[in-house]
Amino acid sequence: MLKLTIDNKAVEVPPGTSVWQAAKAAGIDIPTMCYFEGSEHFTSCMVCLVKDGASGKLYASCSTPAEEGQVVVTNDQETHEARVAALELLLSEHVGDCEAPCQLVCPAHMNIPLMNRLIAAGDFAGALKVVKRDIAIPTILGQICPAPCEAGCRRKQVDEAVSICLLKRITGEEDLNCETPYWPEIAAPTGKRVAVIGSGPAGLSAAWYLQLGGHQVTIFEKDGRAGGDLLKIAGDVLSGEMMEKEIAYILSSGIEILYRKEVDETSFAKIVEEYDAVVVAVGTLKEGIPSFGLTRGAQGIVVEKQSFLTTTPKVFAIGNALRSSKLAVRSAGQGKEVAAVITDFLKTGSVKPYQERFSSKFGKLADIEFEQYLKDAEPTARQQSGREGFSREVAMVEAKRCMHCDCRNPESCLLRELSDRYQVSQRRFSSPDRKMVEKLIHREGIVYEPNKCIKCGICVRLTKQHGEEFGFTFIGRGFDVKVGVPFNETVQKGLSKTAAMVAKNCPTGALAMFREEEQM
Ligand code: SF4
Ligand code: SF4
Ligand code: SF4
Ligand code: FES
Repeated sequence: MLKLTIDNKAVEVPPGTSVWQAAKAAGIDIPTMCYFEGSEHFTSCMVCLVKDGASGKLYASCSTPAEEGQVVVTNDQETHEARVAALELLLSEHVGDCEAPCQLVCPAHMNIPLMNRLIAAGDFAGALKVVKRDIAIPTILGQICPAPCEAGCRRKQVDEAVSICLLKRITGEEDLNCETPYWPEIAAPTGKRVAVIGSGPAGLSAAWYLQLGGHQVTIFEKDGRAGGDLLKIAGDVLSGEMMEKEIAYILSSGIEILYRKEVDETSFAKIVEEYDAVVVAVGTLKEGIPSFGLTRGAQGIVVEKQSFLTTTPKVFAIGNALRSSKLAVRSAGQGKEVAAVITDFLKTGSVKPYQERFSSKFGKLADIEFEQYLKDAEPTARQQSGREGFSREVAMVEAKRCMHCDCRNPESCLLRELSDRYQVSQRRFSSPDRKMVEKLIHREGIVYEPNKCIKCGICVRLTKQHGEEFGFTFIGRGFDVKVGVPFNETVQKGLSKTAAMVAKNCPTGALAMFREEEQM
């Protein structure tokens, strides 16, 4: 056996073990991307760098054999910075958007392209599940939202934006009108109680996601009906019947609502004492409306950016109480975010900012790149609708106009996960001349985007091991080397029997299944 020290821990491993394997055996986690257990090393990504304790040199742990007496450092500032630089170099030539522009500009950050793919396939129930991850009130917002997401839609540069808002609306309506509406899983009861003051879009959304988090929510509503500012437009631009249905559905999750409970400074202090957390969602603070002793700025209640914590411990504020806005979707999005912050606070005792995941962005599409995106979209014109919204058939036609500007593998992509973990900057090594987007789509199988490939060679090794006739190989030399199918053959031919396996093991979204929604 070989004896070595990793992060001051004595480790014993048999000869032939790599430093990475030795660290793993000792319970020490070193990230990898190009390493693939059971196949030869390729040593290309350099995210597994560690330091030799004696010489101070950095080396790749995945391909370096463990040695007797070796001293290994895996977790100091220098190894951290080296891994950050390795990731930033990979990202500098990475032509991929983890999330589509529409999703990035949606204040609730909804996964729009995935919703569109499910609607296009006729799976309205699946689409609703996707919507409900981020939006508690799709039917209401589908009627009143001015759709900032559509302003960010790339299809606008071809003809007109995808009608995202109406697509979201039909998922909500279909669900509310069916016999057994969808119920997301409700977490086991935490024994914590949260008070929400106000039942407009912000309060209802916060209450819904908090209740789903296993907390017991009580809403204090000053009127005799829930809805807050929505009540002013119900029956006008907003169908009162559908609004009531959606609110009743939210409340039936077990939320307690106390009507005609005007909260003043004295009762507020009692609520704060009695509950584990409080969310103030009272709408625009007009003169004379109490702000419960919370610090008020020029626009509304002052909160910490991204955590919504006010100057009073365990009291959070969201929605128009912070700044008056006509965007109910912003309030709804903040409801979801504050619920996540509070759930974490009730578990850990500390308030941390709500953080979106790392998202790779390559910037504007060049005109010639639209051709690549339109491979995945129908050329039809934007569908029109009356006040009643889309029918299922029209919605499916409209959803097929989406160009799917997102990545097909955003959940399990290691490049994204590590970029998030190491808080990297994509701009540090970026150059203005990026490579062009290229999408090779096989509708029954795989999508290959060569310029998201980090040339780890995993697909090359796997297709060889599994006896593919063509497989994937390295094409060209030096900086211009590419990974692809030899002899200009198609991706289908290259991956005739290994498509699902290589998609699963590709550490990025370069190779992904075309119908990723089937894996939901
Ligand atoms: S491959 Fe990974 S990092 Fe790149 S766009 Fe897709 S999810 Fe984002
Ligand atoms: S085309 Fe689809 S994915 Fe692209 S921005 Fe528009 S709605 Fe989003
Ligand atoms: S396409 Fe192949 S070489 Fe490129 S990142 Fe994926 S597995 Fe690695
Ligand atoms: S170089 Fe070691 S995992 Fe890539």
